[in-house]
Amino acid sequence: MARDKRNIHFYLNGKRVSLLVDPLKRLLDVLRENFGLTGVKEGCGEGECGACSVLLDGKVVNSCIVPVGYVYGREVITIEGYKTTERYRAIEEAFARSGAVQCGFCTPGFVMATESLLRENPHPGEEAIREGISGNLCRCTGYVSIVNGIRMVAEQSSRLWEEKEEGEIVPVVSKASNRAEVLEDIPFGNTHYESHNYFFPETLREALEIRSRMGAIPVAGGTDLMVKYKKPAGLVPRAGDPVIFLNGVEELRGIKRVDGFIEIGATTELSEILKSEILPPFMREVIRGIAAPGVRNTATIGGNICNASPAGDTLPALYSLDAQVVLASVGARRALPIESFIAGPGKTVISDDELLVSIRFRNVDFDRYMYKKVGTRKANALSKVSFLGLIKFSSGVLKDGNSRGESFAGKEIEDIRIAFGAVGPVVVRSRELERRLLSLKDFAMIGEVITGYEALINPIDDQRSTAEYRREVAINLLKKFLGEMYYL
Ligand code: FES
Ligand code: FES
Repeated sequence: MARDKRNIHFYLNGKRVSLLVDPLKRLLDVLRENFGLTGVKEGCGEGECGACSVLLDGKVVNSCIVPVGYVYGREVITIEGYKTTERYRAIEEAFARSGAVQCGFCTPGFVMATESLLRENPHPGEEAIREGISGNLCRCTGYVSIVNGIRMVAEQSSRLWEEKEEGEIVPVVSKASNRAEVLEDIPFGNTHYESHNYFFPETLREALEIRSRMGAIPVAGGTDLMVKYKKPAGLVPRAGDPVIFLNGVEELRGIKRVDGFIEIGATTELSEILKSEILPPFMREVIRGIAAPGVRNTATIGGNICNASPAGDTLPALYSLDAQVVLASVGARRALPIESFIAGPGKTVISDDELLVSIRFRNVDFDRYMYKKVGTRKANALSKVSFLGLIKFSSGVLKDGNSRGESFAGKEIEDIRIAFGAVGPVVVRSRELERRLLSLKDFAMIGEVITGYEALINPIDDQRSTAEYRREVAINLLKKFLGEMYYL
């Protein structure tokens, strides 16, 4: 049976470490305060600037929004550990030659992001490089010399990331020191921790039992939670008591085909989903538009759904796919449509004894799509408006007398789906208006459909945008989609 653990064990720069610490303490604070690793910087403290980047199992993550409990049993590398590697020396030299080291404050984060990028793709083009560092902000000078530095490393030293050892990419820090049995017990008194309980189940059954007995608050990647309960450096975020970390439960992870559905485990990270070959292409574009690599490496699809934010980035796609959420409690399981699961902004119908196990949908083969997320920056921005339009044509060309789904380019439309995010308390999708689009007789009727959507779009003013702006952008995106699709 899973139990609450007081000591968090993980591998840090090649050493096994163990410390008594509140599992919700930010990894950033643990690294700086408990281990004195001050190469990890704090900029924004909420996952937007990349100054706190470290490697977790070889992938870049933002340590300011990672609870230390999440790294239990895993491998963390900071710039101090990475400096001992040949790869670091190659990056250091290229950055120096290209003038990429400008202020120095953000440089460790850029180096971590570069390692993570080259590990995934040793030969990135400019677009991939910019995407790889999209979560790292340079506030002083600009990105050109940084991009040039990364290109230089890739051109001159890619062999360092290509080398394989028994089919694996070589580890970041050498294996010889990596698993050394060095145990640094660091007692760390934290009174808040003493009065809170944390659980680290390894099976779904254990997790459900803990949830049902104590109504424990589930935490997966913790990215949204750490921002929501953000505290000044050193203070521990509080998300409730007890807390249950779900990332060790293997049954909640992965993407597979089951009974005609594509099923995504609730704690599957967005970066894993992005790599999946079995997802529809528009779904990958949606995921690519969420945050930046450092956040996608820890944020989970289950978190995105359970937050039930009107701006939740995966939601328009999941509504469009008629997705179902699968919920489990001890001895029971139920599946319900996502629109029934989300009850309002920040609200779902999940019970105190249930966990979200997976999300599933049938893979409908759409011919065209248009996806647009409008935000203040390409990476790491909350949506002001998002729009997804999907369309499927029947095979063959329209015949005279066919009254269903006529487009004006002579193709018959078999299926059309339209969803908006961030323009109402929940995602806006109307099956009634989609049916009307399928039975259009003439172009004038499109105006009636647009009027129908205008009545459904009901955005709010907030710090990101005005309601008026959101409404106008949403309707313009709808018109663009309908215009392009019906005049193909
Ligand atoms: Fe800015 Fe962590 S401090 S992303
Ligand atoms: Fe650090 Fe620009 S190089 S902020």
